[in-house]
Amino acid sequence: MHDFFPGLAGIPAAKSSISFVDGHEGILEYRGIRIEELAEHSSFLETAFLLLFNHLPTNFELDQFTRNIFHHRRIKYRIIDLLKSLPEQGHPMDALQAAVAALGMFYPVHDVREETTRYLTAIRLIAKLPTIVAAFARLRRGDEPIPPRDDLTYAENFLYMLTEQVPDLALTKIFDVCLILHAEHTMNASTFSGMVTASTLAAPYTVISSSIGTLEGPLHGGANEAVVHMLEEINSEKDIPLFVEDKLSKKEKIMGFGHRIYKVKDPRAIVMQKFAQQLDNPNDTRSLYTLARALEREMESQVGPKGIRPNIDFYSGIIYHRMGIETDLFTPIFAMARVAGWLAHCFEQYQENHLFRPDQIYDGPHRRPYQPIEERIKGQCEE
Ligand SMILES: CC(C)(COP(=O)(O)OP(=O)(O)OC[C@H]1O[C@@H](n2cnc3c(N)ncnc32)[C@H](O)[C@@H]1OP(=O)(O)O)[C@@H](O)C(=O)NCCC(=O)NCCS
Repeated sequence: MHDFFPGLAGIPAAKSSISFVDGHEGILEYRGIRIEELAEHSSFLETAFLLLFNHLPTNFELDQFTRNIFHHRRIKYRIIDLLKSLPEQGHPMDALQAAVAALGMFYPVHDVREETTRYLTAIRLIAKLPTIVAAFARLRRGDEPIPPRDDLTYAENFLYMLTEQVPDLALTKIFDVCLILHAEHTMNASTFSGMVTASTLAAPYTVISSSIGTLEGPLHGGANEAVVHMLEEINSEKDIPLFVEDKLSKKEKIMGFGHRIYKVKDPRAIVMQKFAQQLDNPNDTRSLYTLARALEREMESQVGPKGIRPNIDFYSGIIYHRMGIETDLFTPIFAMARVAGWLAHCFEQYQENHLFRPDQIYDGPHRRPYQPIEERIKGQCEE
C-alpha cells in the first residue's frame, strides 16, 4: 500500500533554482535574492529577466529585453475580435486564458527546446498579457482598446491602456512593485499545472493558458477579489469579532489568510501592507485598509497561534481597489506578473523533462457486472 498525501502536500515534484521560500522564517527569494531587496531596487522587467535567465541583466541586456518586450506589446486585430466576441459579463480571467491559448495558433512553436523560439515566446507572453487584459476591460464597457505607447514604462503603459491616463510616478512605482511581488512563488498550484502541461512538451502558450486557468480559483489567485468582496460586506470595525467568530464556527475560510507554506505573515503581505497604508485615505469612513487592519488583529488573536496569517492576497486587493481598478481584474493582473515565474518553470521543465504521470490509489470495485439498460434502476446498486 502506498502512502497518500492529499494535495501532494510536502511532496517535492521538481528540483528548481528559480525561487526559495521558508514559511517559518517568512523568507522568499527569487534566484537567491530576497524579495524585499528586489521590491526596493528592481523593476518588474528586470525581475522577469532575473527569473528567466538566472542573473541580473547588464544595462545592455535590460535595454534589449525591454525593447523586445515593447516591440511585441501590440496584439493582432483578430485577438481583439476574439475578445469582442466574448460575453461582457464573463470573467476576464477566462478571456485572458482564451486569448493566450489563441496566441499559440498565431505563433506556432515547432520545437519547444529551441532557445530562440523560447526567448521569443517569453517576450511575446510577457509583452502581450497586459494588452489583452486592458483590451478586454475596455471592450466590455463598450470602449475601443487603447494601443500601447512606446514612451511609457511597462507598468505605466498598462495603467494607461486601462484608464487612458498616465499614472503619476508614485502610483507607477507601487504598481510595479506589486508585479515584482507576484512574479514567482515556487511550486504552487498554477505553476505545477503549467509544469504538468510543459512536461508533455506542449508549447508555452498552452502551458501559460493552463496556469491561468488554475490561478483563477478562490483558493489561489482569486482570493484577492474575494478579500475585497468580504471587506465590503463588513459594515464597521465593531462587527469584526462577531464576523470572525461566525465564520470560524461554520468552518468557513476567511479570505486572504492562511497559506500552505507560510506559518508567519507572508513577507509579500508585509510590503503590500505599507503600500495599502500609503494609499489609504484616513478620512474615508469606509476605508478598506482600516477594516483590514482590524480584521488582521482579530484573526491574530483567534487563529494566529495556528499559523493562519495574512497572505499576499490580503492587501493586494486593497491596493488595486484604491487605484480604482475593477475587482475582477485583480487576478488577471496577478497573471500578468506571474507569467514570468511560470515561464521560468516551463523552461526549466523542458530542460530536464520527465513526463508527469503520478500514481493513484484505486478504491473502487472490481469485476462489476455489466447491467443491461432495461434492468437499471436510478440510484440502486445493480449487484
Ligand atoms: C490557502 C489555503 C488553501 C491553504 O490551506 P491548507 O494548507 O490547505 O490548509 P487547510 O485549508 O487544510 O486549513 C488548515 C486549518 O486551518 C484553517 N484555515 C486555513 N485557512 C483559513 C482561513 N483563511 N480562515 C479560517 N481558517 C483557516 C482550516 O479551517 C483548517 O482548520 P482545522 O485544522 O481546524 O480543520 C487556506 O489557508 C485558504 O483557503 N485560505 C483562504 C484563501 C486564500 O486566501 N487563498 C490565497 C492563498 S495565497
